[in-house]
Amino acid sequence: MTILILGGAGRTGARIHHRLTTRGVPTRLASRRTGFDWHHPETWPAALEGMSAAYVCFSPDLALPGVPGKMEAFGRLAARSGLERLVLLSGRGEEGARASETALRAGGVPTTVLRCSWFQQNFSEHFLTGPVRRGSLRLPAPDVPEAFVDLDDVADAAVRALTRTVPRDAVYELSGPELLTFTDVVAVLSGVCGRGIAFEPVDVPTFVADLAVDGIPREDAEPLAYLFTEILDGRNASLGDGIEQLLGRRASPFSSYARVAAETGVWA
Ligand SMILES: NC(=O)c1ccc[n+]([C@@H]2O[C@H](COP(=O)([O-])OP(=O)(O)OC[C@H]3O[C@@H](n4cnc5c(N)ncnc54)[C@H](OP(=O)(O)O)[C@@H]3O)[C@@H](O)[C@H]2O)c1
Repeated sequence: MTILILGGAGRTGARIHHRLTTRGVPTRLASRRTGFDWHHPETWPAALEGMSAAYVCFSPDLALPGVPGKMEAFGRLAARSGLERLVLLSGRGEEGARASETALRAGGVPTTVLRCSWFQQNFSEHFLTGPVRRGSLRLPAPDVPEAFVDLDDVADAAVRALTRTVPRDAVYELSGPELLTFTDVVAVLSGVCGRGIAFEPVDVPTFVADLAVDGIPREDAEPLAYLFTEILDGRNASLGDGIEQLLGRRASPFSSYARVAAETGVWA
């Protein structure tokens, strides 16, 4: 049994790779650096050849227009390539992501969907690292509650779904254990950093200009902003029980993540 990890060098992929190799499970990583590109379907068969299962992580985001077509083609190819299981990283409350989930199943390979809340690590491993460092979290969103999930919990859940028998075609809602507004989040971050960090809702052009300060180009920032204005409206203000269902334990709170991240010096 060899497991294909798409986006294997990324935030979730690297964590899953580490867990599987620690257990001695053979893996193959695939992304542009290994010759696999979501925009070039002719690069997909070589990645799938000889694999028994795959972790499917689309970049930059599963909810963007045009992605369901790619998911359908990939799901059909996975079936022809003999894969027995797919585990898809998805997002909660996103219409586009829902369409991608359905499309991936078109080939008939049993598919587990991990529908995730906002990642806690967006504040330290992604586009919000710079704003936290500067003490000013400005987002194109109101101060809605979100159930931020820890990527280590997501990786544990993915490994479980990849290596153990789970109900065919199950959907798991993965969230953290509590609802926090962005005001709550900056209070926690201020505490662990020992200095004030403020939250401020801003319009999309201001958000895009802020991300440019951290070197994130307009073509990447605008789709992110579009997604935030769509999903950060309170629709995901509920807890999911996927971590408990898959792992039999409680999800890890934001405060634990923030304390550990601060100790690494990422916000210094
Ligand atoms: N951020 C959130 O809060 C959140 C919440 C719910 C769901 N999600 C979902 O999480 C997914 C992203 O997961 P992640 O954070 O683990 O990924 P990531 O760290 O952003 O990226 C994973 C890898 O994808 C590869 N990649 C980029 N473009 C590619 C392409 N065209 N073809 C093939 N590989 C490509 C990159 O490696 P190379 O440079 O080698 O190609 C990168 O290392 C998205 O689908 C998003 O919808 C995110």
